[in-house]
Amino acid sequence: MTLSWGVKVPKEDAERVHKILLKRKIIDISLRTLRDEKYVYFPVVAPIVIENTELVRMNFPKKNMLNPKDKIRHELLKRVPKEIVEIVPEYWEVIGDAVIIKLPEDAEKYKKAIGESFAIALGKKDVYLDKGVEGELRKPRFELIYGTGGPTIHKENKVLYKLDPARIMFSSGNIDERIRMSRLNITDEIIVDMFAGIGYFSLQIAVHCNPRLIYAIEKNPEAFEYLKENILLNNVNDTVIPILGDNRNVSPEGIADRVIMGYLHKTHKFLRRALEILKPEGGIIHYHDLVHNYGGIEEAKRRALNILENAGYRMSVLSSRYVKSYSPNVWHVVLDLKVEQE
Ligand SMILES: C[S@@+](CC[C@H](N)C(=O)[O-])C[C@H]1O[C@@H](n2cnc3c(N)ncnc32)[C@H](O)[C@@H]1O
Repeated sequence: MTLSWGVKVPKEDAERVHKILLKRKIIDISLRTLRDEKYVYFPVVAPIVIENTELVRMNFPKKNMLNPKDKIRHELLKRVPKEIVEIVPEYWEVIGDAVIIKLPEDAEKYKKAIGESFAIALGKKDVYLDKGVEGELRKPRFELIYGTGGPTIHKENKVLYKLDPARIMFSSGNIDERIRMSRLNITDEIIVDMFAGIGYFSLQIAVHCNPRLIYAIEKNPEAFEYLKENILLNNVNDTVIPILGDNRNVSPEGIADRVIMGYLHKTHKFLRRALEILKPEGGIIHYHDLVHNYGGIEEAKRRALNILENAGYRMSVLSSRYVKSYSPNVWHVVLDLKVEQE
């Protein structure tokens, strides 16, 4: 039971008053409405005067609030003015024990209270404010607004990813592609993941696809440390070999059945390197690229074909798909290319 303000209204007038309370968004959605023979008692978050009603203080039973949006709103209403609650976006991302939110400028003044509300409502440790991306490489800028920050472990499709969300990118928009990778029929293949990061694709494949070996190459030492930890965390150290360095210098050559190119900055410039990594007769390349609205997937096909043909390879596109919107008018796409030496 919770002691709260309530609006007591004769039964026959309850519908009208309910509409008014809903419109003013003043009903306390965490508490249950009560009824007796003559009256209905609506719990409200603040005192309110409405014709033909009486304001009362009384105990209301707590509702089982299963809906996270309602929980967040309820916590926000306790801490920030109602007009600010109205402009807090109703979407968020979860990475392990962390929540990532975006806020309009007018709400930033209340960011600490808003962060606390999300953490309590969602039962999470840290809350970050996503302040957009910076630089040509679109590095995310996350500001910790609640909690102590640091590494967290995110679980997706039975794979554990340890990372620090403030320092390492984890793109929730790529989830379908990670899951697609986990369903490839590639038993016994040798795979080279040229841009492994913390193991986004390598771990999905290692956990679900039974390949012979995956060489996971990553040049950023911080991401590489997480990659190594994640290999152990997922118990795939027999399958995944982490290699620190630039794939142009450190990759094994002439051995892969399949190469993953999960990178979005002039990926085509690495295609010749992918050919050196594949077995001499060729193989499969998962080629990620950025394309414009007007060019679409054809834009990526043309770019890849040009390079592969010049290198003396035949290319066929086994499948292609849009992964996510990357920026206004720009799309992240992936092509599964079969390449064979002519
Ligand atoms: C961030 S991931 C791409 C996103 C990822 N595929 C996903 O699903 O979210 C790309 C990684 O490639 C690494 N990288 C970039 N150039 C590289 C190179 N030449 N050799 C090895 N790693 C590289 C970056 O450090 C980064 O960690």
